[in-house]
Amino acid sequence: MLKDRHLIEPGDLSVSEINEICSLAEQMTVDPISFQEVCRGKILATLFFEPSTRTRLSFEAAMLHLGGTVEGFADASYTSSTKGETLADTIRVVSSYVDVIAMRNPKEGAALLASKYSSCPIINAGDGGHSHPTQTLTDLVTIRRLLGSYEGLTVGFCGDLKFGRTVHSLTQALSRYKGNKFVFISPKELCVPDYLVKNVLEPNGVEYRTAERMEDVIGELDVLYMTRVQKERFFNEQDYIRLKDSYILDKEKMKMAKSHMIVLHPLPRVNEIAPEVDDDPRAAYFKQVKFGMYARMALISKITGCL
Ligand code: NCD
Repeated sequence: MLKDRHLIEPGDLSVSEINEICSLAEQMTVDPISFQEVCRGKILATLFFEPSTRTRLSFEAAMLHLGGTVEGFADASYTSSTKGETLADTIRVVSSYVDVIAMRNPKEGAALLASKYSSCPIINAGDGGHSHPTQTLTDLVTIRRLLGSYEGLTVGFCGDLKFGRTVHSLTQALSRYKGNKFVFISPKELCVPDYLVKNVLEPNGVEYRTAERMEDVIGELDVLYMTRVQKERFFNEQDYIRLKDSYILDKEKMKMAKSHMIVLHPLPRVNEIAPEVDDDPRAAYFKQVKFGMYARMALISKITGCL
């Protein structure tokens, strides 16, 4: 039962719960009209302490498509946090008004902290460089819709694997499915954090390797997951400038990829995918956006106990 549970990281969901959400999201993509009254009378709060376009609007669109309503903020500078209110108090207050909260915060662990003080479910919409579980549901629905399964795949993650929370969450989720292999493509400074290796990859016996050049491995991949270098998480601007254009996916590199490989990106993209790739049928990042709304619809309807 997902009703009244918090979702802080993908590990909070069992494999069968992930499958259930993805299957429901797929039904919603096929017949959204049947679900338009499901959350009538329920309220979602979106509390975004960090910038967002897709995630916040997608959560809000998801609740509106389910017949519910939304309130919240996109800019914490207009809230009482500027007067010194703690996150714990903000959450105590908001959770007494609404049925579910989607929260994004620049601090790792903020969603977990919020869940300790909330009287309604907290959905983590991104906590610093840690986790982003609803992007993972988005990615899984996209992979299953476009490739038929999220098992037995070779997945290349490329770019900022150190700070990229979407990479951490998707790695955690895909590690639990049979036969997935990972290739981590990044400069040494931006490689996946040690905790992922020790707590996720090694215990699950997942086959993985690292690479510095995309050209060396792109031909092996079923999924290429591109990411933006996370400027806001660097301590030093010089490092960001040096690393920001480490990888640029263009038409030439796409020629080396399999004909069925899909390119995903959580967006926003900066320079890492040349616009000339957008017309390639394997470029799936805008389809991914649409699947994200259905993934969130499925999650919200389960967590609120409406389905
Ligand atoms: C990502 C995020 O916020 O982590 N974006 C998103 O939610 N779609 C990726 C990013 O900001 O690079």
